[in-house]
Amino acid sequence: MGIDVWVPRLQEDVEESPPVEAAMVQPEPVARQPDSPKVDQASDIDQMDWSALRARVSTCSLCELQQGRTQTVFGVGNQQADLLVIGEAPGAEEDRQGEPFVGRAGQLLTAMLKAIHLSRQEVYIANILKCRPPDNRDPRPEEAALCSQYLKRQIELIQPRLILAVGRIAAQRLLQTDQSLSKMRGQLHEYSLTSIPLIVTYHPAYLLRTPLDKRKAWQDLLFAQNTLGNLSEAG
Ligand code: URA
Repeated sequence: MGIDVWVPRLQEDVEESPPVEAAMVQPEPVARQPDSPKVDQASDIDQMDWSALRARVSTCSLCELQQGRTQTVFGVGNQQADLLVIGEAPGAEEDRQGEPFVGRAGQLLTAMLKAIHLSRQEVYIANILKCRPPDNRDPRPEEAALCSQYLKRQIELIQPRLILAVGRIAAQRLLQTDQSLSKMRGQLHEYSLTSIPLIVTYHPAYLLRTPLDKRKAWQDLLFAQNTLGNLSEAG
């Protein structure tokens, strides 16, 4: 099976000011560590509309990934999508184009969606991280935690019927677990921050390296398609 032939076969930091006398003998305050959580910026994110959110993400400097990016990769697709696909992080091509899943893995993802009669325009596609990690390393937990406020708001705005997590990293972050991918596949989960149903499948980059597992990915896609149908019927 090639890339494009997926034909269905079967807080704030609260610091009390010291009294004036004490302040006079206090050393200079210790500078904030570069990767300490800057949750104070998050307070207004859960009220943002799409354009405010996109603008905030585009200038984000919450973690060090800002230094290596060409641009942020916000997300793309139907803002009222029934299906939200969530991957790990932008790669080189995504960083260049500013759109998720446009490289080789993205072509395979597009073909996988097509196999269940969905186009990229019908679904919404986003990542755990909005910036490319250097050398395509795995997202660090603190990077994912800082970036999660943006994805959470995107999910609130879209209100998808179903989330498809592609790959172990996306699934583990969304489900707040360290289970293996094989344990997470084949079950209907719920996104940890809301009660939106969530299904886990392989990352298309993994499938490019391990084509034998495309058969199992196809089962996951059928599971997602059936679940989406059932959820739509239930209204
Ligand atoms: N891999 C991902 O997880 N996301 C992308 O956007 C591209 C490759």
